[in-house]
Amino acid sequence: MKNADYSALAAQFGTPLYIYDFDEIGQRYTALKSQFGAHKSLICYAVKANSNLSILKLLASLGAGFDCVSINEVKRAVLAGAKPYKIIFSGVGKSDDEIKTALEIGILMLNIESGAELERVEAVAKSLGKKANISIRINPNIDAKTHPYISTGLSENKFGVVIERARELYLKAHKSEYLEPVGCHFHIGSQLIDITPIHEAAVIVSDFVSELAAAGVELKFFDVGGGIGVRYDDESEPDLYTYAQGILAALKGKEMTIVCEPGRYIVANAGELLTKVLYEKVNGTKRFVIVDAAMNDLIRPSLYEAYHKVVALNAKNSDKTSKTDVVGPICESGDFLAKDIALPSQNSGDLLLIKSAGAYGFSMSSNYNSRLRAAEIAIENGKARLIRARESFEDLIRLEKGLI
Ligand code: LLP
Repeated sequence: MKNADYSALAAQFGTPLYIYDFDEIGQRYTALKSQFGAHKSLICYAVKANSNLSILKLLASLGAGFDCVSINEVKRAVLAGAKPYKIIFSGVGKSDDEIKTALEIGILMLNIESGAELERVEAVAKSLGKKANISIRINPNIDAKTHPYISTGLSENKFGVVIERARELYLKAHKSEYLEPVGCHFHIGSQLIDITPIHEAAVIVSDFVSELAAAGVELKFFDVGGGIGVRYDDESEPDLYTYAQGILAALKGKEMTIVCEPGRYIVANAGELLTKVLYEKVNGTKRFVIVDAAMNDLIRPSLYEAYHKVVALNAKNSDKTSKTDVVGPICESGDFLAKDIALPSQNSGDLLLIKSAGAYGFSMSSNYNSRLRAAEIAIENGKARLIRARESFEDLIRLEKGLI
């Protein structure tokens, strides 16, 4: 982060510490939004990438909408100031209670992922005497060519419904007194460096929308999901202009509002994880740098073998590097933040910066090994402020206390 005094931040807030550049988050949102020009668009930030309330508040203040996958994400968005009519609720397994609350809040639309779910939404809407705005998540059977764990657009994945089924569901919803089909949706995968699969999916879904219109089902929202990749190592980030133009071309003049649901693109490279070196050790020929952050703070390297650049903040240019694994204190061999990277020798108390940690970092963190989740801070106009306090032992045991 530009001009950040990491030693001072570590001294003030402790480590491990998530640091977010709020100016960068704002710029990324605006850069994407502006690509659609005069065409109606709604950028619904994918809350799962980082659900910190202050981040949601910042994006809401810029006019963003929100893509949520649990009712608690919806509630977070509302609490942060989101307009209900800019909130989308996606996900393969919404419960009746979640559907009910979403309808009561009056969100923009529920993204339906199966025939069974459509029936539940209809039943819940009926019980409330309301009409539910829905969109159906179409699985276009397109290979997003990304890590299998974050690929979602093939029929072998659990997400969405195939086009033939979507057609039946739209016609059914169209006839229902309690359902209003307003949009269509697809999301084929995450961390896409080559965005042509999104454009291919957009063409398939746009043709399908034309077909539905001919059958009397007029949709207003064309939701292309998230998935825009970012630079972790030496990838080149997709060009936003090309991204937007491909979607506009697929729409072939349709006046639908384009919705996109970027998560990673907005926050990944605006976030860093600051960690302190505890020890160095060598086992045989293998060098380890043991730090105070672990897989419970950032699980991406362990779960997806994801690469995050590590910067040695206390090193001088003249320091000689050697290969090392950067590991955490958790009792698992899979607890690593980086493998076989070149790093100068480290002293206890030196600081390391794990880059590109703003997306799916804190939001996937846990209390494994009874570790306390890290604090989070925002840097805005050069000033640091706490946006989530470090957990305490009291927080950790709160729900068990009194029950033993
Ligand atoms: N919309 C839907 C329906 C999604 O399922 C997702 C992500 C997004 C939008 C946002 O995708 P993005 O723009 O962030 O690529 N934990 C994994 C990523 C899982 C993504 C799940 N769905 C990781 O750390 O790489």
